[in-house]
Amino acid sequence: MANEALRATDDIKPTLTDEEVLEFCKTGLLTLEGVIPDSTNRWVFQYLDEEGADPHQLVRDERFIDEVLLHPAVAGVVRSLLGANFQLPEWMANHRLVGPEAARYWHIDAGSDFERACNLLQVFYIPQSNSLEMGPTLFLPGSHLVPITREDIERFGHLAGQVPTTAPAGSVFVTAYSIWHRQPDKVDQSTRNLLKWVYWRTTPPARDWNARPDFDFAGADYSYTSNYFTGGHRKWQSVPRVAEMFYWLCGKADDFHMVGGSGWPYSSSDPGMWSRSR
Ligand SMILES: [Fe+2]
Repeated sequence: MANEALRATDDIKPTLTDEEVLEFCKTGLLTLEGVIPDSTNRWVFQYLDEEGADPHQLVRDERFIDEVLLHPAVAGVVRSLLGANFQLPEWMANHRLVGPEAARYWHIDAGSDFERACNLLQVFYIPQSNSLEMGPTLFLPGSHLVPITREDIERFGHLAGQVPTTAPAGSVFVTAYSIWHRQPDKVDQSTRNLLKWVYWRTTPPARDWNARPDFDFAGADYSYTSNYFTGGHRKWQSVPRVAEMFYWLCGKADDFHMVGGSGWPYSSSDPGMWSRSR
């Protein structure tokens, strides 16, 4: 996987705390609103508008690497979740829509494995502001750990808890690869650009983000409730999945043991989770 031609990333500083890494394990989605400056958004937008523009060329464009791929806010998140010396993307796609477009099905991208690990991150960047009329990608937070087949997911329509990527220009969405997503109806005449790429891990996971010594692994809340799952009844299902992913990211996969039943990682402070499961 290593490619000598790609820029080194060994000097990138992590930005996330334990709580923020755990939150990413729960949602599979981290939004950085408007972090890329307008001057960058403008030239990227103009480039994509040129006749014959090839978004793939951007992965070798020094200016794009400096201003977007290695922007400190973006790279700091990637460094936190993928460790030191993460690999920059080797390809770039642009989900460009011109004028009205019908919605696409809910789907997961090819190769999704719903793994309780984090070896790659799929990242989206919008160089222009996204309104609901522009068909902004919808994500279902928490779905990255919920296995489903493409055949089943295609039948879904509106899902409670879905989050649209309506955001100001220069926003970046960092996602776990297996997150469920779709493009809704685009109803306006605008041209929408959505750049998408993947960063890769090259080193084993370690808890070397902005961790603090007193983080309470035993007492942390590993649950996540998505409204999609019938109003929270399936909250308990998220707990082992989230906890296992967090332990994996900490480099503590070998320490992750479930005793079963309502034992750890379920929280004794939330007995309601059990009384609801009739
Ligand atoms: Fe997709």
